[in-house]
This record gives sequence, structure tokens and C-alpha cells, in this order.
Amino acid sequence: MDADAYRQEGLAAVERATTIAELDQARIHYLGRKSELKQALREVRDRETGMALNATREAIEQALATRQGELDRAALDRTLTEETVDITLPGERRRRGHLHLITQVRRDVEDAFVGLGYHVRYDREVETTEYNFDKLEFPPWHAARSPRATFFLDGDVVLRTETSPSQIHEMEERQPPIYMVSIGRCYRRDTIDATHYPIFHQFEGLAVDRGITLADLKGTLLHVMRELFGEDRAVRFRTHYFPFTEPSIEPDVSCGICGGSGCRTCGYSGWLEMGGAGMVDPAVLRNGGIDPEEWSGFAFGCGLERVAQLRHNVPDIRVLWENDVRVLRQF
Ligand code: DAH
Repeated sequence: MDADAYRQEGLAAVERATTIAELDQARIHYLGRKSELKQALREVRDRETGMALNATREAIEQALATRQGELDRAALDRTLTEETVDITLPGERRRRGHLHLITQVRRDVEDAFVGLGYHVRYDREVETTEYNFDKLEFPPWHAARSPRATFFLDGDVVLRTETSPSQIHEMEERQPPIYMVSIGRCYRRDTIDATHYPIFHQFEGLAVDRGITLADLKGTLLHVMRELFGEDRAVRFRTHYFPFTEPSIEPDVSCGICGGSGCRTCGYSGWLEMGGAGMVDPAVLRNGGIDPEEWSGFAFGCGLERVAQLRHNVPDIRVLWENDVRVLRQF
């Protein structure tokens, strides 16, 4: 066999190859096990022929490697140009969700109280009548004890009707001074309408310290209402009755729509009802293991839905539970 001619032919074939497949064919044809060259190498008898054939093999191997590199690079170049992304094309905007309005309000309430040094607690929603009613000094005849007003799970287990049981839990777990706010869901057998829903949220504050007075309650509520509704708000108290406070009051915040002059939202009174409050009844302090001779306290409770509705003029509480994104997106 003519080693030189074979080399020429082999190199030419390698050079002609324009694809990896063609290159592989050339490799198999000129260097493969059944190639003329391998056959000749197997039959070689003298040193000179052997060297010549090996030189040819090496030359073709070398050429194959070089060509392989060239074809690989060309393929890469092609993908790089063909598969470019046009980053100037407008992208597909991915819609981001956001917190539900009630969650936003809850966090704002937490911030307002944490700013005053209060700590936040979340208590159980399934309560015993002992904590939901008895220790809060609900009289036996109180309407809230009726299964027509309250969801009973058992004779003495209810879905809590308010966050007030947290007052007792807090007092039993801690020694005064106490400054806490409890936030969470409450349940009542209410007929659904624009301002009622059987599931709702409350925040409940409790302060127990030496020499606490109604003035402290008023200052605290004024601060919180201004945090939630704006600096221009005022707060007033009306007397009321709650089983666990003495005296009991209902705090109002001045209407933000009319600025206090009277409009439809506030029923032309200039004031909006914000929940209940009062000085903690000495009997309740005692039920929580605290000596009323040494300590006094105030408490208040208010609905998160109420805050949300007033803040955004949401006319119907039901939309907060329907979770129609077209509505939720607005807050
Ligand atoms: N728990 C009362 C309610 O749901 C609100 C309330 C009134 C809470 C007076 C209080 C309070 O802490 O002192 O109607």
C-alpha cells in the first residue's frame, strides 16, 4: 500500500467534511478497524513500512482532531446566532399578588401597638365557656350564652365570640405590668348582611399597671386611631355596659369623610363607633390572679373589618370574604 497516497486521500476527505457525520465517515473509512491502513498495519513485517504507516495514521488523526474542533466551533457559532433572544421584545408581565386587606389592617394594628411597647398574642379560637364567659363575669342570663347567639361545639366548648378571653389567658400567664394586644378570628351566629358576618376579626388590648386610669385608655385609643386613620382624627367616649369592665365605654372616632360635620357614612353624627372598652372590672383582675388593690387596668376590643371598611369606604363586609380578585386588587 502507498502510505503517502493514502495520507493525501485521507487528509483531503477530512478537509471535505462539512458535518460531524461526514467527519465520522472519513474517520471510519481511513482509520477504522476495517480500513486499508489498519489492515496494512496488521500485516507489516519491516520497520520502515511500519513507521511510514504510523506517520500516515498520526497525520490523519491530527487532521481529524483539528477538523473536529473547527466543526464544533462552527456549530456553536450557529446556535449562538440562531438562538439569540431579542431582549428588546416586551416580556410577559407576571402578576404579583398582595396581602388581603384584613391582613394589611392586622399588621397595621400590630405595628401601632408594638410602637407603644405592647406585645402581640394570638390565642385559640376554640374556647371553653369558662374563659369565653365565666371568667369575664358574663352573668348567667347574658344573651351571648345562648346557642342562638354563639356556636357551641359542646356543652362548655364554643367558638370564641370575641378576643376578650385573651385578657384572662394573659393575666394567668404573666405578672403585671401587662401591655398586650390579642388579634384573631371570632365567631357569632349572626345573619349575614352588609355589616355582619359569622366569622370576623377583633383586636383586643389589655393594660394592667399601677395607677392606670380612663385617661390612659383615651390617650392610647387616640394614638392608635390616629395611626390607623390619620393625624386629624379625634376620639370620644360614650358610656355603655360590658360584663368585664367597670366603667364601660364605647369609643368613637371622628368621621374621616366629613371631618366631623356629619355625612351619610357617620349617620350625620360626625362620629364612628369603634368597639368597646373600659376599666377592667376588679372581679376580672381577680379571676386572672391579679390583686385589684395593687393593680388597675383598661381593656378595649375592636373589629378589624370595621377598620378596613372605614379606611377604604368598603360598603359591604361580604366582599372581604368572597375573595374576588377584582375587588381585592383595589386595596
Ligand atoms: N368584647 C366586646 C365585644 O366583642 C368588645 C369589648 C368591650 C372588648 C369592652 C373589651 C372591652 O376589651 O373592655 O363586643
